[in-house]
Amino acid sequence: MSVTVRVPAKVNVQLAVGAARPDGFHDLANVFLAVGLYDEITVTPADELRVTCSGPDAHQVPLDETNLAARAALALARRHGIDPHVHIHIAKDIPVAGGMAGGSADGAGALLACDALWSLNSSRDELLALCAELGSDVPFSLIGGAALGTGRGEQLTVLETGGAFHWVFAVADGGLSTPAVYREFDRLGAGTDVPAPAADPALLDALRTGDAVALAGTLANDLQPAALSLRPSLTATLAAGTAAGALAALVSGSGPTTAFLTKSPEAAAEVAEALRTSATCRTARVAPSPAPGATIVAGPA
Ligand code: C5P
Repeated sequence: MSVTVRVPAKVNVQLAVGAARPDGFHDLANVFLAVGLYDEITVTPADELRVTCSGPDAHQVPLDETNLAARAALALARRHGIDPHVHIHIAKDIPVAGGMAGGSADGAGALLACDALWSLNSSRDELLALCAELGSDVPFSLIGGAALGTGRGEQLTVLETGGAFHWVFAVADGGLSTPAVYREFDRLGAGTDVPAPAADPALLDALRTGDAVALAGTLANDLQPAALSLRPSLTATLAAGTAAGALAALVSGSGPTTAFLTKSPEAAAEVAEALRTSATCRTARVAPSPAPGATIVAGPA
């Protein structure tokens, strides 16, 4: 018997970052939007905890207990006093270390899958609390759709969306370390007064009405200067997508994936093709949004 869960990637349509807190994290106003690129997590009973991964970038994924999927299984098993003996297989389609919450998706997926495999029937709130212990973005991977994350990003308020938004994601060669990007944010802002992060009402309105042009005008990522400072070549990627007709371009989360909002599926296909031939990225993917959160697609529901 096994259970398979499908989990989406995310883009941050607004990522407002405050000053570093005493615990090293940053207070955020983080507007998450789940997008239709998915990892699939399959869990099967085994003699010991084991993680495997398939997909073009599988070699970049750690298979030890630093993997968020393994940590999720361990945390859930410990909570219930049971053995974490499970084989977790990750079919990876979300860019690795790309700023699209691929690791968080695997954590949320493994949690939901193990909960079903072990018939634990945890409530949504119990799962969300465990997700928040695993990482700031993991609760959102569980719920999907669109949400405002405050605190370090883990306190979620579900947001309404009024329609589909069509995205292109340019995948860069190699990842960026999220802590390194936050450190660069701190370095660039040293000595300045960093304002308290707040969600932009115009952006929330654009999401609610499904207005892509209005959303394009309000996209904002405070980590973008830090990501560009660490990876200056992303400036050319952003320019290539904009020149190809994207409504707006920004770095996705801590990068180095770049995100392009377009006005239609056709425009997205054109921008993706232009990016693929631009020699400014490894590949480009189209994805609609919003996408549903972690969902059991095979095995006990
Ligand atoms: O919560 P998560 O493990 O995903 O965070 C990874 C790293 O990103 C943290 O160790 C921290 O350096 C940085 N971070 C932060 N403020 C946040 C979220 C993450 O500084 N709100």
